[in-house]
Amino acid sequence: DSRAVIDLALFGALGDLSLRKLYPALYHLDREGLLHEDTRILGLARQQLKIDDFRKRVTEALQEHVKSSELDRDALKRFTARLDYLHLDFGTAEGYQAIAEWRTAVRHETTICPLVVYLAVPASLYGDICQHLQGSGSLDELSRVVVEKPIGYDYETSCEINDAIGSVFPESRIYRIDHYLGKETVQNLIALRFANPLFGTQWNQNHVSHVEITVAEQVGIEGRWGYFDKAGQLRDMVQNHLLQLVCLIAMDPPANLDADAIRDEKVKVLKALEPFSENSLGRDVVRGQYIAGSIEGQSLPGYLEEEGANRESETETFVAMKTGVANWRWAGVPFYLRTGKRMPEKLSQIVIHFRQQPHYIFDPDQRNLAANKLVIRLQPDEGIALEVLTKDSGLDKGMRLRRGPLHLDFGSAFPKTRIPDAYERLLLEVMKGQQYLFVRRDEVEHAWHWCDSLIAAWKALGDPPRRYPAGSWGPVASIAMITQDGRSWYEDY
Ligand code: BG6
Repeated sequence: DSRAVIDLALFGALGDLSLRKLYPALYHLDREGLLHEDTRILGLARQQLKIDDFRKRVTEALQEHVKSSELDRDALKRFTARLDYLHLDFGTAEGYQAIAEWRTAVRHETTICPLVVYLAVPASLYGDICQHLQGSGSLDELSRVVVEKPIGYDYETSCEINDAIGSVFPESRIYRIDHYLGKETVQNLIALRFANPLFGTQWNQNHVSHVEITVAEQVGIEGRWGYFDKAGQLRDMVQNHLLQLVCLIAMDPPANLDADAIRDEKVKVLKALEPFSENSLGRDVVRGQYIAGSIEGQSLPGYLEEEGANRESETETFVAMKTGVANWRWAGVPFYLRTGKRMPEKLSQIVIHFRQQPHYIFDPDQRNLAANKLVIRLQPDEGIALEVLTKDSGLDKGMRLRRGPLHLDFGSAFPKTRIPDAYERLLLEVMKGQQYLFVRRDEVEHAWHWCDSLIAAWKALGDPPRRYPAGSWGPVASIAMITQDGRSWYEDY
């Protein structure tokens, strides 16, 4: 039941994620009637704050991050009345008792409901918090924990973190967030693939020539240099978001929509990802780092000139790669991935390029045109377009071909439906106790194995990142990487 009563304990209640994403998501759920009237939210942070001041901070965050047309007074009042606050030093056991006391106080010992613990804090604190929660008797067999990425820095550190959480919570009650899985169009991949026989029959190496995934961001490091410089774009974006997209595109049909049926299929994809060697690296992977440039007329500093930057850093802010899924369905089909900061626009899209007809009878000059493409746009302007070929109109055109999209733009096709933010859906699923949009431990580990091997090969090669100006599509080598195969990154929509 999505409207079950929940006690939500939010660690990191004054942090960026909570203010920017979690309160707005919870507010929207409340406004849409998806929170039970008795659901309570306990904000936890180190700062001493009176409850009224906390509610004020949350209200300000909502005013900043929710469209004013969606902020109505009654809903806001109802939502803020659900909020409580407790200041707590997360690292010491003392104080945790107050969480259990809060629950008893708000429930008057009448309602038994699950405690959802949301850890919007650095992963280094996960273990301590879980232990102290357990030690203080705040948990029971209904309690769930929600954790954010990054789960570690590599395979080993991810195991340490997962062990620490796992010593308190069983896997069936751990919800690892990859917010890409909460995006509307990402979920649509499952519907598109498994509800449409048209695509179901074509989704393999007999019909697909290659797959392309671009996750481009306009933003730079946004004050997170300390974190980002240790991670880099591969760990920050590929290990999680892009690999999740690869899994959803490449996985075999699950037997049903159960969390484990889906996650079992995703793990098979991760296990089948082609590894890189020092030999293939120079050809198939391009690392980049942005230098000063401009986006939409605004001059921007380079990565090494950002606030707090170590001027010698060789961390990548862009990565492009050609990989593949070595199994029966995908053998020989390249998967081209690229993601970067400070690109000309924010754009996340997947393009499935289908093979050409076995025999071509039209204008030889147009041969390159002659293949269908399925473009799945995740953001902005969620939509799906199937590029088809038709005859160019006009008496003098003969049988010249023309490309055009069969286009489903979600915004205009279904204008009344607001597309919810990823966190709304994810929080709702946690409350329902449904895990299919969350990442299982073995997924995290296989993804790290693959990334670790790539990073080790990088290190061995000692290749510095190639520079690209802010506002460009990455180093020239990332274009060459795909053109050397006679292909190009998809540009039209
Ligand atoms: C986060 C990364 O996981 O995803 C950020 O840590 C990145 O670096 C963000 O900017 C991108 O998310 P979205 O939803 O804006 O594409």
